[in-house]
This record gives sequence, C-alpha cells and structure tokens, in this order.
Amino acid sequence: MSVIEVRGRRPLKGELIVQGSKNAVLPMMAASVLNKGITVIDNVPGIQDVFCMMGILDSLGCCCALHKHRLQIDASGLCGASISRCDMEAMRSSILLLGPLLGRLGEAAVYEPGGCMIGKRPIDLHLMALKRLGAAVEEGGEGKPLTARAGRLSGAMVEFPYPSVGATENAICAAVAASGRTVLTGCAREPEIEELCRFLTAMGASIRGAGSRVITIEGGLALHDCHYRAGGDRIVAGTYLLAAAGTGGEIVLTGAGARELCPVLCVLKRLGGFLYEEEGLLFFKSQGRPAALTAVTGPHPGFPTDLQSVLMAVLSVADGESAVRETVFESRFATVGELVKLGADIALSGDTARIRGLGCLKGASVEAKDLRGGAALAVAGLLADGATRISGCGHIMRGYEDICRDLACLGASIAWR
Ligand code: UD1
Repeated sequence: MSVIEVRGRRPLKGELIVQGSKNAVLPMMAASVLNKGITVIDNVPGIQDVFCMMGILDSLGCCCALHKHRLQIDASGLCGASISRCDMEAMRSSILLLGPLLGRLGEAAVYEPGGCMIGKRPIDLHLMALKRLGAAVEEGGEGKPLTARAGRLSGAMVEFPYPSVGATENAICAAVAASGRTVLTGCAREPEIEELCRFLTAMGASIRGAGSRVITIEGGLALHDCHYRAGGDRIVAGTYLLAAAGTGGEIVLTGAGARELCPVLCVLKRLGGFLYEEEGLLFFKSQGRPAALTAVTGPHPGFPTDLQSVLMAVLSVADGESAVRETVFESRFATVGELVKLGADIALSGDTARIRGLGCLKGASVEAKDLRGGAALAVAGLLADGATRISGCGHIMRGYEDICRDLACLGASIAWR
C-alpha cells in the first residue's frame, strides 16, 4: 500500500473531521514519562510516527495501548534510559525523550535522531538547554551514544538564539522535573508548544507564558495521572485547505482551529478564497484560479515550512508568477524535481523557488521524498490532467492517517494501489 494513484481536475467538495495533531501528540507522549503513572491522550492519530513512539516507550519499560484514537501510557514501569540507534533513527521526534528521561531518571543515552532529510537538523540547542539545567552531556561520536546525566536538574535561565520547536519542548519537560524556577527566553511559539504546556499543566506542572517568547516554569512539583484531548492537526488541515484552493473547491473542516491556522488562512485569502469559522467549523470556498503570490516560511506565526511544498504545488497552477522562500530548513526543496515531472515550471535559486503558474499539470509517476513533500505530490496530482502515481508513500503515512480516505471523502479520485 505504498503507491497512491490520483486522477485530477475535480474540485474538492465536502466535509471532513481533521485528525489529531502529530506534532502535538509526539511531545506529549515523550513528556508522559515524567509521570510515574498513567496518562491518557484522546484524539491521537493512527500514524506511523505515533506507532514508532509507542514502540520506543514500550522498549523503555512503559506500557502503551492505542484504541480508537485513545492512547494510554503507563509509565510506572519505566526502567530504561537508553534508546537504541535503530529506534532513534526511525524518526526525528525520538530526541524529544531526552529531556523527559533525564528529568525522570537522571540519565539518558541516545543517538542522533533520524527523520525527513530536509536539512542538517542538529541538536545543539537541545543540548545547550539541558546543560544550562545542570546536565553533564558527553557527545558520543562514531557509533557511540550521546549520554546525559544529572543527579537532579536545577532551574536556570536559558536563552535560545533561535526558536527551535523541539529544543523548546525538551527544555520545558526537563524544567518541569528540575528543582526551582526556570525561565526560557527566545522560545518557539508554535501552537504545539502551548498544547504541551496545557498537557503538562493538566499533569500538575506550573508553567506560565506558553505561546510567548518567554516561558517560566516552577519545577519539581509532584505530577499526577491526567487525561487530555489533543487538538486537530493544523498541517493536515492546511494541506486540504490548500488543495481546495488549487482545485477551485469548497470544503468544511471540523476540529481545526482558525487561531492555530492563522498564517495559512492569510495565504488562502491571498490565493483568492472566502473563509469563515463558526462553532468549531472552518468553511473555505475558492473564488476561482489561485492568484500568484510571494510567501516566506518562518517560525510561528510565520507561514509553516511544513506546508511550503504543498503551497508550491498549488502555485504551479496559479495565475501568474510566484516566489516561495524557505528560511527554516536549508534543503527542503527535494519535491521540486517531482513537481517538475508533473509539468510544473519551477526554478530554484538558493533559498527561493520561482514558480510560473500554468493552466494545469500533467499526470506522471513521481516519488515522495519526505512526509510533507509526499502530501504535496498528492495535491499536485489533484491539479493534473490524467493519472498521477506516487511511490514512496511510507513517508506520507508517518503523518497522515489516511490521505486517500480524507481526500476521497472530499470528492477526489484517489486510492491506494
Ligand atoms: C518541528 C516539527 C516539524 C517542523 C519544524 C519547524 C515536530 C515533531 N516537528 O521540528 O514538523 O517542520 O518544527 O516548524 O514538531 N535547529 C538547530 N539546532 C537545534 C535544533 C534546531 O540549528 O538544536 C535548526 C534546524 O536545523 C532547523 C530549525 O532550527 O533549521 C528549526 O528546527 P526545529 O524548530 O527544531 O524543528 P523540529 O523541532 O525538528
């Protein structure tokens, strides 16, 4: 089931409930080891990255069970602080366990995390924050794990020179376990950071300032079992909204908040769409062929880098010439070559892609190079004449529960082959 076949040129039309957020759930799963008991998370998407994180937690002595989007994690039996190289390389979010393990057990041994090949993706900011909180870190090097140790972490001032999402999350988790006050400045402001803080607060932590540049944590409080419902996935919602804009469609999404989607909604309006939100429903109606535009990705509240390739797919059929500049990851243009196979007219120069909009794309065989790039190819297939076959769809399954089910529910001709 790793090939998708799409037949394009049909406007999306219909209603859909958006899956739970991958990027919110993965850090919560990692943070659950801070509690020596049971954590229940609802609205958990059935995606490969979640299954992978469950496997890692189980290998550390936790007991995870996912049933109908409800995930229960019993971390009372947590005994291991070492994650195997193979598990670390399975996904980038494995690194999110470093802070929580250090906080709970006082030690952790990990390897370089894997994940999509979209840039260098170092972990220096994660390590800087943990060192500030008192961890002694020994970087492993060739074939050896990186180890971090701390008798007890203690609260500190930590300043991030760049608002890394993962480093902010690791630092928050470690600070919750540390004794005393931690003040984090220069934090990432992604909605998923706010969700992690709400989740930890439900577990008994004291955190102020989530969603702003400065987050203050009173650490060392006793934590307890909690039951939390994760929000909808803003990137999945954004994928389908952009697809509706490209196909001249009209869709209604449930479970995706307009506030979290704000930078995407601004772009949708510029593409030429009518949008409104009412009682948890988000309505979008395209007003014809998308307008060309200039967009720059950036940390929240900038346009999300995770939707850069999806936006490029849509701009390939826009009326005029567009430009998209990528400022978050240095090698996130791997999908351009595949879009070009579908007939897109895209020229790359440094961090900027210039896209000359065409009437439509042409179906072809293409390969998903990474998670979001794979979703962009599915969207491009919707904009193409004839059949598009996408291979390498294992990438897409890491983050989309069932992209074919969802797009077919919105009227697309798309199926697993
Ligand atoms: C998270 C998201 C990912 C999204 C990204 C940016 C999850 C599970 N993943 O990834 O979908 O694309 O945010 O919105 O939430 N950097 C460093 N040193 C570090 C850490 C990061 O230089 O220690 C750099 C990275 O190489 C990159 C930039 O900072 O250029 C942003 O990375 P970061 O915000 O950390 O992204 P992730 O947490 O990996």
